Amino acid sequence: MKLDITQALISAEKVNALKSKVEEAQVALEQGTCPGNDFLGWLHLPSSITPEFIAEIQQTADVLRKECDTVVVAGIGGSYLGARAIIEALANSFQWLVSAQAEIQNSKFKKENPDVLFAGNNIGEDYLYELTEYLRGRKFGVINISKSGTTTETALAFRLLKKQCEEQRGKDVARKVIVAITDAKRGAARTCADKEGYKSFIIPDNVGGRFSVLTPVGLLPIAIAGFDIAALVKGAQDMERQTAVGVPFEENPAAQYAAVRNALYQEGKKIEIVANYQPKLHYIGEWWKQLYGESEGKDHKGIFTAAVDLTTDLHSMGQWIQDGERSIFETVISVARPEHTLLFPSDEENLDGLNFLAGKRVDEVNKMAELGTKLAHVDGGVPNLRIELERLDEYNLGQLIYFFEKACGISGLVLGVNPFNQPGVEAYKKNMFALLGKPGYEAETVAIKQRLNH
Ligand code: PA5
Repeated sequence: MKLDITQALISAEKVNALKSKVEEAQVALEQGTCPGNDFLGWLHLPSSITPEFIAEIQQTADVLRKECDTVVVAGIGGSYLGARAIIEALANSFQWLVSAQAEIQNSKFKKENPDVLFAGNNIGEDYLYELTEYLRGRKFGVINISKSGTTTETALAFRLLKKQCEEQRGKDVARKVIVAITDAKRGAARTCADKEGYKSFIIPDNVGGRFSVLTPVGLLPIAIAGFDIAALVKGAQDMERQTAVGVPFEENPAAQYAAVRNALYQEGKKIEIVANYQPKLHYIGEWWKQLYGESEGKDHKGIFTAAVDLTTDLHSMGQWIQDGERSIFETVISVARPEHTLLFPSDEENLDGLNFLAGKRVDEVNKMAELGTKLAHVDGGVPNLRIELERLDEYNLGQLIYFFEKACGISGLVLGVNPFNQPGVEAYKKNMFALLGKPGYEAETVAIKQRLNH
């Protein structure tokens, strides 16, 4: 993974002016003296993962891979985005159709990997209805992921899925194919797992949801989907070394990224868009958005995080990016070498006038689109940061994940917030519970009804 900040449209002096703050933040993280220091378990998580631990996760994954054609991950926010981001980045873009085809062509229903679906991240009645319909007759399993064990969206979906799984597969099989990933002692998910005898994994107390992709929260679904979690962890371990405290500021990509984005913020760049040129990276953008948005948007401060898929969104957001308010900068994630090769064919009639591309790789066109866009954006006053992944594989994605996590911790501290809490997320829950009449919320129910009647 390489970070290029040469087109960040900010002087080296302004970036270097933040060097001491960045280094202080790194030391504070390392020594555990920063705000939120009870949530630093992610910092040395990669290097603490043992082959035995990976084997334990793989063993559980193998049970579900054997027993299930579909596995539903119930979780929201940090409890699903990382797994979804990695699985979608690595899976065939047409996974659904590939599975469906296997189903049609082979009545014995053989496919290499179970489909991994996601639920518990919304309360859409149609979504849940259609999911339960889709699962009818399928050999499905469930992973119930919730650190607190009490998140409403996840608990609602899990209640439905547990019941359906038990009815369809019988209680004994259900016990085998339902796994819980939650707190060691607290929460309804733990109580249920212990009572039912589910296999369970613990989310360490000191690892927050959005920093948890390298715990079983991410590793188990990724392993079930058939990807190499050891290589993912190896990538993260290498990045842990490349971003360690002793690495000089100029050579530490996490320190550089944290410094540049804070310098840009101080110059009025209040919005950062993460852009990809590979649709498979869509959910990496979603994961990043949560990591940085939830970590830094506090005390009425923080860069607003958004994500775009390019070139797709050049035909929707392109005008704004090129020409709208100059409060934006972009971080492009580019993949140097796609997995496949596809050449444009020549056409005798050349009605579309595209014969000048005949014999070229699709990726060459994509790369020129990226370069042309970068030049246009830079000309338009949009600073461009560029992250290049050599390939879209487990190792490179492991590097990317840890790079973003480390830079996020540093960046939030430089900004002057506690990057590891999320007090703002509670406000909607309180109102929702009051409106739904949850026991214990009687006073809030009265207050909110009065407010709505005025
Ligand atoms: O990053 C976070 O802490 C949050 O996004 C949580 O992951 C999310 O709210 C889900 O919480 P839980 O795992 O407790 O269900």
